[in-house]
Amino acid sequence: MSPYQLTRILPDDAMGAALRADVLHGLTRTPKELPPKWFYDARGSELFEEITRLPEYYPTRAEREILLARSAEIAAATGARTLVELGSGSSEKTRHLLEALTELHSYIPVDVSESALAGAAEALLAEHPDLHVHAMIADFTRSISLPETPGPRLVAFLGGTIGNLLPGERHEFLRSVRAMLAPGDALLLGTDLVKEESVLVAAYDDAAGVTAEFNRNVLAVINRELDADFDPDAFVHVARWNAEEEWIEMRLRARQALTVKIPELDLVVPFEAGEEIRTEVSAKFRQERVRTELADAGLKLAEWWTDGEGRFALSLSTAV
Ligand code: AVJ
Repeated sequence: MSPYQLTRILPDDAMGAALRADVLHGLTRTPKELPPKWFYDARGSELFEEITRLPEYYPTRAEREILLARSAEIAAATGARTLVELGSGSSEKTRHLLEALTELHSYIPVDVSESALAGAAEALLAEHPDLHVHAMIADFTRSISLPETPGPRLVAFLGGTIGNLLPGERHEFLRSVRAMLAPGDALLLGTDLVKEESVLVAAYDDAAGVTAEFNRNVLAVINRELDADFDPDAFVHVARWNAEEEWIEMRLRARQALTVKIPELDLVVPFEAGEEIRTEVSAKFRQERVRTELADAGLKLAEWWTDGEGRFALSLSTAV
């Protein structure tokens, strides 16, 4: 058997159907909203990579600092023989963890992007020729049934992406993660932390305007996929801290009243001057909330590590 296998959970057209449903639903309701997953076409993924290198965007560097410091502890605590990475992308974040997991038999990267998976697997196999890599094209917000590989199993969900889910969605998600685990198996979770508003807002509204371009890219995706006629320049990038919910919201605000045609949906969408589309929620956490939400899903917080400046946390929890 080849050490590399690829399983497609998503049918080829699933993304197209989901985009149509999300755009139809999100742009015909008040207030308007679009889910953040549609940022990530090839251009959007490139812009996100650029964001991770911006001076204002600290989460990627903070999480890398923790992974570098704690990988050996994570390996010792879990003894993982199978690593499942949800939203693995380029698997770049996981490099160091893979080096540290000395007992590892199988690596299962899960991502919606087939190109990201293929490139990552090739690079990893070059470095770890004996590793069994079983890539899965799947939407990690749905429950997925994993191949039979040796335990203990460690599921990693890094980058703070759990913050893109609303509280109810987080609960469903954490329960589906718990369902992938046997008692004693572990979850390694990256969460960005609540901090001073100016630091948070700057991270989502950088001086170079990269995040603004990333935000407007969702309109280009809808134009291309659904033949719509959004003028991205007619919308202003907005990043706002919602203190009650403790999340950052990204929005696109119409500079003036306008209408957008979306022929593939037989839809005309009117905008009032100043009307906004909420395009992303990025929740920020405190330890207590993480502990409670994990517990509600049958996971017990075991370790909590932050970077030196206390900006970002990696937590290790075990299935009870
Ligand atoms: C990839 C979801 C972790 O919420 O910080 C970066 C995406 N949005 N800048 C985040 C994002 C705007 C990012 N995550």
